[in-house]
Amino acid sequence: MPLVPMTDFLPQAKKEGFAVGQFNMNNLEFTQGIAAAAKEEKSPFIFGVSEGAMRYMGLDYVVAMAKVAAEESGVPVALHLDHGSSFDVVMKCIQAGFSSVMFDGSHYPFEENIRLTKEVVKAAHAVGVSVEGELGTIGGVEDDLQVDEADAALAKPEEAIRFWEETKVDAMAIAVGTAHGMYKGEPRIHFDIIEETAKKIDVPIVLHGGSGVPDSAIRQSISLGVGKINVNTENQVACTQAIRDLLSENPEMIDPRKYLGPGREAIKKTVIGKIRLFGSSGKA
Ligand code: 13P
Repeated sequence: MPLVPMTDFLPQAKKEGFAVGQFNMNNLEFTQGIAAAAKEEKSPFIFGVSEGAMRYMGLDYVVAMAKVAAEESGVPVALHLDHGSSFDVVMKCIQAGFSSVMFDGSHYPFEENIRLTKEVVKAAHAVGVSVEGELGTIGGVEDDLQVDEADAALAKPEEAIRFWEETKVDAMAIAVGTAHGMYKGEPRIHFDIIEETAKKIDVPIVLHGGSGVPDSAIRQSISLGVGKINVNTENQVACTQAIRDLLSENPEMIDPRKYLGPGREAIKKTVIGKIRLFGSSGKA
C-alpha cells in the first residue's frame, strides 16, 4: 500500500473506540521491527519522525524506508512528522513525501498557535496530507524538545475545543499529564480533560508520552476519546536492553547484524503488545 494520511483510519478509530499507535522511527531496525509487528497484527500504524531523527537518517532515507515498509506490510501506514517546529519544516516533509504532519505551536501564545496551525492545515489539506495540532505543553525530553515538568501546562478543554473549531486539525494533541521519556513515579492523567474535550470535537485526542503509562490508564483514555497514542521510549529501552545483554554476554561479538537483529526483534515484540493494548489488531 502507498503511504496514507491519518484520516484514512483515525475516523474509524474514534467511531469504534480503538487507538492507532504512532511508533517513532529511529533507524532501519525500528522501521522493520515496527512494520513487521503491524503486518502480523493486521493493524494500521503511524511512523513518527522527529526533526532529530530526520537529521540522523536523512529525509530521503526516511521516506524511502517508510515507503518500502508500507508496501511490504500491506497495512495502512502514515508517515508523520512528529513535533514539527515551523511551517518550513512541514513543507520540506510534505515535498519529500510525508503523508501526515504535526505542527507543534504549543509554545506560542494561544491565538498565535491557532493562526500558525491554520496556515499549516490550509497548505497540507490542499495536497491531501493530514495534520495534528498541539495545545498545552507536554513535559519531559524528546530529541530537541525539553520541557521541565514544572513548566508543563495542562490544556484547558474550552481552549482545546476552540482550537479545533478554528483550525480543523485531524488529530488533537492536548497536554493531560503525560510526559516524553520514562516516568519516575506513576503519571497522573487528567481524564476529565480528555473526556470534556473529546465530547465536543469530531477528531480523536492524541496521547503523547505513551511509554510507561499503565495499561489500565491507556484503556480508560481510549474509552474517553483518545484515538492516537505515541510510543518511542519503550521501544528504545527494549532494543537497547536486548543489545546490551547480548554484548555483555558475548564481548567478542563484532558483526552488527548479530546484535541489531535481536534489537529489532525486541522492538517488534514491544509494538505487538502496544497494538493489542490499543485495540487496533485486525483493523487494517
Ligand atoms: P515516549 O517516548 O514517552 O513514548 O513519547 C513518545 C512521543 O510522545 C512522541 O511524540
